[in-house]
Amino acid sequence: MSRYSRISGTGSYLPARRLTNADLAADLAQKGVETSDEWIVERTGIRARHFAAAEQGSSDLAAEAGRRALEAAGITAAELDLIIVATSTPDMVFPSTATMVQYKLGSAGCPAFDVQAVCSGFIYALTVADAMIQSGSVQRALVIGSEVFSRILDFKDRTTCVLFGDGAGAVVVEAGDQPGILATDIHADGRHRDILCVPGHVSGGSVLGDPVLKMDGQAVFKLAVGVLEETARASLAKAGLQDSDIDWLIPHQANIRIMQSTARKLKMPLEKVVVTVDQHGNTSAASIPLALDVAVRDGRIRRGQLLMLEGVGGGFTWGSVLLRY
Ligand code: UT7
Repeated sequence: MSRYSRISGTGSYLPARRLTNADLAADLAQKGVETSDEWIVERTGIRARHFAAAEQGSSDLAAEAGRRALEAAGITAAELDLIIVATSTPDMVFPSTATMVQYKLGSAGCPAFDVQAVCSGFIYALTVADAMIQSGSVQRALVIGSEVFSRILDFKDRTTCVLFGDGAGAVVVEAGDQPGILATDIHADGRHRDILCVPGHVSGGSVLGDPVLKMDGQAVFKLAVGVLEETARASLAKAGLQDSDIDWLIPHQANIRIMQSTARKLKMPLEKVVVTVDQHGNTSAASIPLALDVAVRDGRIRRGQLLMLEGVGGGFTWGSVLLRY
């Protein structure tokens, strides 16, 4: 009998502080940085984003999203065999954010670790959880994407600081004999490591290098549209399915224009794409599980439907997960 992993619950959390483009533009104007709602909406589709409070770390957002996913799945943290957190904005250099989430959820004992693949992090983490479930070593996993990108933004650089937001999304994945995750496909190409990075690091008691996000937006854009189509087609081929079989496309939420172009290439109408970039901005590893949870909770995504999750980001990394919800 085949063994599959299946999503049994989803959850998400957005920090309370919400900034519209107009709010952000007003804040930036005080620093002498000029931007506008018109530019941000036209070039990205973003209208608002959430920023975490000073005392909130990635693990706080992740634990809250995790709690909601556990509740939706109807299980307790004590029943988990695995916790994976995808993040590029961990609370500390170490220990992992996942161990802090485990502690905050009140459980102990099961393995907990972070995955670092920037905006593809959730796809990587879900792929790892799926493999561990299929191998038989794990029965129930909590997989979370959580980010506080507001901490690594340069608010003097208008080409990046208007794009990102904070948040967390989570899924509980459980072993079963019905699909479930049908195919996964992940990739990296380190030749492009410089086009999206935070080059700073800790050494000798101080931060060396620049600890803020740097991006060549156009280079990222061009690579993203190509690999997103490729990885979606690779997952479909592995599962023996067609693009016309997909009920919902849940892509990384970076830019509405990238999402429109991916949908066009997969011959999908935009109505079948879950879009949250307008309200959340780009929340990196959190964006896919956040969008998934929104569409599950508002009733768009229903049991039995075919979902294509796909991400792309720094590294360069990219990948997809095709699943029957
Ligand atoms: O999460 C990982 C994946 N990340 C992405 O997918 C990001 C991919 N890249 C993008 O989404 C787009 O490239 C951006 C949204 C980052 C930029 O859009 P663009 O259409 O490529 O704009 P651009 O960089 O070509 O800039 C056009 C103009 C420039 O002015 P000039 O040189 O034409 O006079 C910029 O200085 O827009 C200017 N500009 C702005 N103006 C007002 C750049 N940022 C802003 C801003 N407000 N915030």
